[in-house]
Amino acid sequence: MAVENAGADAIELNFSCPHGMPERGVGAAIGQHADLVRELTHVVRGVVEIPLIVKLTPNVTDIIPIARAATEGGADILSAINSVQCLMGVNLDTLEPLPSVGGCSTYGGYSGPAIKPIGLRVVSQIAQELPVPIMGIGGISSWQDAAEYIAVGASAVQVCTSIVSSNHLCIYIAVGA
Ligand SMILES: Cc1cc2nc3c(=O)[nH]c(=O)nc-3n(C[C@H](O)[C@H](O)[C@H](O)COP(=O)(O)O)c2cc1C
Repeated sequence: MAVENAGADAIELNFSCPHGMPERGVGAAIGQHADLVRELTHVVRGVVEIPLIVKLTPNVTDIIPIARAATEGGADILSAINSVQCLMGVNLDTLEPLPSVGGCSTYGGYSGPAIKPIGLRVVSQIAQELPVPIMGIGGISSWQDAAEYIAVGASAVQVCTSIVSSNHLCIYIAVGA
């Protein structure tokens, strides 16, 4: 409610962050359980009127029960995908998992061009099953990538890695209706 009162045009519920959040029972840990997704979406839907977006994790076996639960909970829009859980590498001198920050490490989220096929698959599967607007995300770095997402059912796209890595500031770009 505070977010709506502050003037936000929409709220995106990030049930999909793999960066140190699942260990604490939030982020992607929520997005892997349909009942939690439905319940938490429903709670937020009950207190805000602005459009509600639920952002999905690809780190599930079947995206459809999760996507359906979000719509049953009252999501107006789905966004997919968040990053793909990964272990970036291992320092072969120290056998430390990477990245290592102050000697500590955890699993991370893989993003960028390599995950585009996964994002396209997830968006395509949702679009074939559910009549809900979808924001396509994952590995978009050209208009052709965006067009492919739109071709499989997205009505808008988001871009992160290609913009972050080219030192621009904007994170989200909507291109569809
Ligand atoms: C540096 C970085 C930070 C991110 N932070 C968030 C975040 O705070 N919330 C979120 O929902 N997704 C976050 N993501 C995931 C992206 O929004 C996006 O879903 C994912 O990276 C796939 O898109 P891309 O290939 O265009 O990066 C982040 C990704 C990166 C690379």
